[in-house]
Amino acid sequence: MRKFLMILVLVLALSLVLAACGGGGDASSETASVGVVGNPARGQKLYEQTTIGTASAPGCVTCHSLEPDVVLVGPSHAGVGTRAATYVAGMSAEEYLHESIVTPDAHIVDGFTPGVMYQNFGAELNDQEIADLVAYLLTLK
Ligand code: HEC
Repeated sequence: MRKFLMILVLVLALSLVLAACGGGGDASSETASVGVVGNPARGQKLYEQTTIGTASAPGCVTCHSLEPDVVLVGPSHAGVGTRAATYVAGMSAEEYLHESIVTPDAHIVDGFTPGVMYQNFGAELNDQEIADLVAYLLTLK
C-alpha cells in the first residue's frame, strides 16, 4: 500500500513537471520582455508602423527603406545591423543603434543632414520599445 502511494505521488509530481514544461513552450517569445531585453519580433512591428510613440510621430518606415541603397529621407537600413558596429570606434552595434534612435544628431551618417531624423523618440518611446527596435535592427545583417 505504501509503495502504491509513493508511485502515485511520483506520477503526480511528474505530470506537474510535464505540464510546466508544456506551458513554457512559447515562454521564450512571450516573456523575453522582462527588463529591457529587446524582442526583435516586436521591434519589427514597431518599425513597420506608419506612426509611432505617444505623440504619433512619423514611423521609421516613412524615412528608412530596407532595400539596399534606397534613400527615402534617411539611409537604407539594409545591413544596418552589421554596419552599425563600424560607424564609431569603440561603440558596439547595439550602442550605436540605441544612440541613433534616442539622440539622432550625436553622430550623423555621411551624406546626411543633422536635425532631419525625428528628434523625440527618446521621450516618446519607452525603454522597452527602444530595446525592441534595436533588437530588430540588429537582425538586419
Ligand atoms: C523624419 C525622417 C526619419 C524618421 C521618421 C526616422 N529616421 Fe532614422 N534617420 C533619418 C535620417 C535623415 C538619418 C541620417 C542622419 C543621422 O545619422 O542621424 C537617420 C539615421 C538613423 C540611424 C543611423 C544609422 C543608419 O545607418 O541609418 C538609425 C539607426 C535610425 N535612423 C533609426 C530609426 C528608427 C528606428 C526610426 C523609427 C523609430 C527612425 N530612424 C525614424 C531620418 C528618419
